Amino acid sequence: MTATDARKVCIGLIGAGDIAGAHVAGYRRNPETVEFAAIADPVRESAEKRSGDDENARIFDDYREMISAGGLDAVDICLPHHLHADAVIAAADAGLHVLCEKPLCLTLEEADEIAAAAARNGITIMCAHNQLFQPAVAAAKELVDSGALGRVYEVRTTDSFYNDFTLESMGWRARAASSGGGELIDTGYHPLYLLQHFAGGTPVQVAAMLSRHRLEFMEGEDSAQVLVRYDNGVVGHVTTSWAYEPAVGTEKFSLVGEKGSLSSDGTTLVSRVRGEQPVTVAFEPVHEFAAEIAHFAECILEGRRPIQTHVEGIDVLGVILAAYESATTGSIADVRRSDSKASVHA
Ligand SMILES: NC(=O)c1ccc[n+]([C@@H]2O[C@H](COP(=O)([O-])OP(=O)(O)OC[C@H]3O[C@@H](n4cnc5c(N)ncnc54)[C@H](O)[C@@H]3O)[C@@H](O)[C@H]2O)c1
Repeated sequence: MTATDARKVCIGLIGAGDIAGAHVAGYRRNPETVEFAAIADPVRESAEKRSGDDENARIFDDYREMISAGGLDAVDICLPHHLHADAVIAAADAGLHVLCEKPLCLTLEEADEIAAAAARNGITIMCAHNQLFQPAVAAAKELVDSGALGRVYEVRTTDSFYNDFTLESMGWRARAASSGGGELIDTGYHPLYLLQHFAGGTPVQVAAMLSRHRLEFMEGEDSAQVLVRYDNGVVGHVTTSWAYEPAVGTEKFSLVGEKGSLSSDGTTLVSRVRGEQPVTVAFEPVHEFAAEIAHFAECILEGRRPIQTHVEGIDVLGVILAAYESATTGSIADVRRSDSKASVHA
């Protein structure tokens, strides 16, 4: 650790927009392990707003200057999508660990460069997949891993909401060049990493139907239905939309295995082993970003592998790129592997 206090991870935040506020709240809830050391954003007022009254957070216009200035152990990347890969690689080549908002990057070529940068520098990259820190998700994963439901056959995940974006308020998200596509590579990343978490295998085939139901000004889709086959036989189904709310009773996630099933609306988990009474457990909500930042800091301090690294981030990207291919060709697409898949650090 380069931090003055050896028990803390000194973090430099890159990008001071909307989601950066949740990350800063996460730092403040982890004062024992996290030092909010610096922030970079070309819009000075945004950086000042996010640094708040934290006198220790040095402000920079350019994240490369922030990295060169030193005094950091890690960066936290909260940038528009097309800027992620360069920032991850610049930080990795300076020997800094990385927490990166979704998506990790936009192409398999960028994914290769990121995996190579992580390997040559021996740093940790954690994908900021906040929904993994929901208590219902953690409990469901524990149940699946215990073997109580047997071999997993099917996983369904949903993340849909009525988005009141306009072209103006949507900014960089409305353009495929800066977002990487449409809703699927943005909000759709959440149900896809949840699917990955529960499926447990490597995605191999994808069939997708994309729609622009309502947000006509977007270049990409506002809704997606995606089927994914994993190499362990699991089949996943994702529904995700900015056009509409899900119907009442739609699960946030559900899973069927050889011995039983589980289903969750995000706060309550209902599980049933065949022949037994269902078990219902309700969970208190947590601050997902505080839990995510706490996990990142613990992994850095203890040299542990985070819950999802660039390896899973690249697998999810592979599914999204295959979904875009499938929607274009009208056929099932193979998930193309990144060249560096075999050599990435786990
Ligand atoms: N986990 C979640 O639930 C969630 C929710 C919203 C957004 N996100 C993700 O967070 C990321 C950022 O989204 P947002 O909604 O905060 O976007 P935003 O547009 O609100 O903020 C982006 C910020 O980056 C800054 N920026 C642009 N270029 C920069 C550069 N070169 N160096 C430093 N800063 C630069 C902008 O000035 C802006 O302040 C995206 O990857 C998005 O998908 C995640």
